[in-house]
Amino acid sequence: MIHEDFRLGQLVSYVGNKTIPILRLYRYKEAFAFPFVQEFIRRFGLTQSDYLFDPFCGMGTTLFAAMQQGIPAIGIDRLPIATFVARTLPLFFSVEPPLLLETFQALSDKARNAEPAQIASDVAIMQKAFPKTTLLALRRWKTVIAELDYPLRDIFSLLFLSILEPCSYTTKDGQFLRLRPDKQVADPAAMLQRKVHEAQTDITLLRQLWGNQQKISPPLVQLADARDLSEVPFAQSPTALITSPPYANRYDYTRTYALELCFNFVKSSAELKTLRFGILRSHIEAKVAATDRPPHPVIQEVVDLLRGNERKLNNPRIPAMLTAYFVDMRQVISEWGRVLAPGAQVAMVVDNVRFDGELVPVDLVLSELAEGMGFKVQQVIVARYKGNSSQQMGKYGRVPVRESIVVWRKEGTT
Ligand SMILES: C[S@@+](CC[C@H](N)C(=O)[O-])C[C@H]1O[C@@H](n2cnc3c(N)ncnc32)[C@H](O)[C@@H]1O
Repeated sequence: MIHEDFRLGQLVSYVGNKTIPILRLYRYKEAFAFPFVQEFIRRFGLTQSDYLFDPFCGMGTTLFAAMQQGIPAIGIDRLPIATFVARTLPLFFSVEPPLLLETFQALSDKARNAEPAQIASDVAIMQKAFPKTTLLALRRWKTVIAELDYPLRDIFSLLFLSILEPCSYTTKDGQFLRLRPDKQVADPAAMLQRKVHEAQTDITLLRQLWGNQQKISPPLVQLADARDLSEVPFAQSPTALITSPPYANRYDYTRTYALELCFNFVKSSAELKTLRFGILRSHIEAKVAATDRPPHPVIQEVVDLLRGNERKLNNPRIPAMLTAYFVDMRQVISEWGRVLAPGAQVAMVVDNVRFDGELVPVDLVLSELAEGMGFKVQQVIVARYKGNSSQQMGKYGRVPVRESIVVWRKEGTT
C-alpha cells in the first residue's frame, strides 16, 4: 500500500506555484503546487460534473486549478488572510490590465497625505517590524485602498498585503516570522508599483494561457472551521477532496502571518490571540482539554514515551499538542465522512513528524482513523523524505521522515 513516487516530491511544495501567473502574486509558502492539484484531478478523472472540496484551502491552489478546468469547487479556511487571498486571486481575471497602473497612479498622490488607517498596533511584533516612516506610509496606503470600489479594492489589498514582508524587518523563515533588524527594507510605493506591473503581466499571460474565462464561475470560499462543516453552504455533496492540513510540527499560522493579520483582519492583540486559539491545534500554545485523549494507540504510545521523566523535550507541551492535533484531525475526518458523497475520492498531503527521536507516522495513523469512519485507504504515496540533514542523522541515525499523499475513497457508490 505504501509506495514512493518522488516525481510528486517537487509538487507538494509551494515552489511549483512560482511559475503560475496570478498564483505567484501572493507568497503563501505553506501551499502545495498547482500542478499537484492538476495531477490528482487527472488521476481521479474529475470532470465538470464533479464537486471538489478543499477544507484547508489556504491561498486556494486547489480551487484555482479546479476553476481552470471548469470543475465546481468550494474551499474553507480558518485564517482570514487565507480565505481573502483564495477569494481574491480569481478576481484578477475581471479587470483590464491597464486599469491597475492607472489606479495606482491616482492612489499614489492621495497616499502622500491620507489619514493613517487603524491597525492592531498593540501586537508586539508590530512595534518592531517596520521603520517608523515605512509604517506610516503603509497605513496611509491602507486608507486610500479601502476607499476603492470592489473588486479593485480587494485586488489592491491583496497586492498591498503581499508587500508587507519586503517592507519590514521580518522574514517568513522556516517555521517562524523572524526579525532581522539589519534587513534592507523596501519602499512601499516602489514595491507596490512593482507588484502592479507583475499583476498586469500575469493577467495578460493567464488570459493567453487559459483563453476566455468569462463562462467560468469563481469557486466559493468561506471562513470556516474544518472541524465543524455544519454551516458550510455546499451546493451538493462533494465528490472529491484535495487538501493539505496544518502539520503536527508546532507551526503557528497566526504568527507567520501576523503582519498581514494585524494590518487588515484583526483589530487588537486580543483578537489575534482568539484566532490563535481557534485554528487547528498544531502548535504549542494550543489549549488542550483535560478530557482530550490520544485517539489512536500509536499516538498514546508516543505521548507516553515523550512524557517519560528522562526526556528532554525542547518544549514540554509537545505531548499535549500531539494529543490535541489528533483529536482535531479525527473530528475533521469524521466531518468528511458525514458530508462527502458515497464513493468520493480524497487526496491529502501530510508530513510525518519526529520529536526527540520518536517518529510519528501521521500518514498511517490518519489512514487508520479514516478506515474507522467509512473510508477505504487506497494508497499512501511517499512524495519525499525530509529531516535527513546530516545534523539530524548524526543525532537519530538514518531514519528520514516521510511527506506523503494519502489517497482514500469513501465507501459506497455514487
Ligand atoms: C498546509 S496549509 C494549506 C495550503 C493550501 N493547500 C494551499 O495550497 O494554499 C493548511 C491551512 O489550514 C488552515 N487551517 C488551520 N486551522 C484550520 C481549521 N481549524 N479549519 C480550516 N482551516 C484551518 C491554515 O490557515 C492553512 O491555510
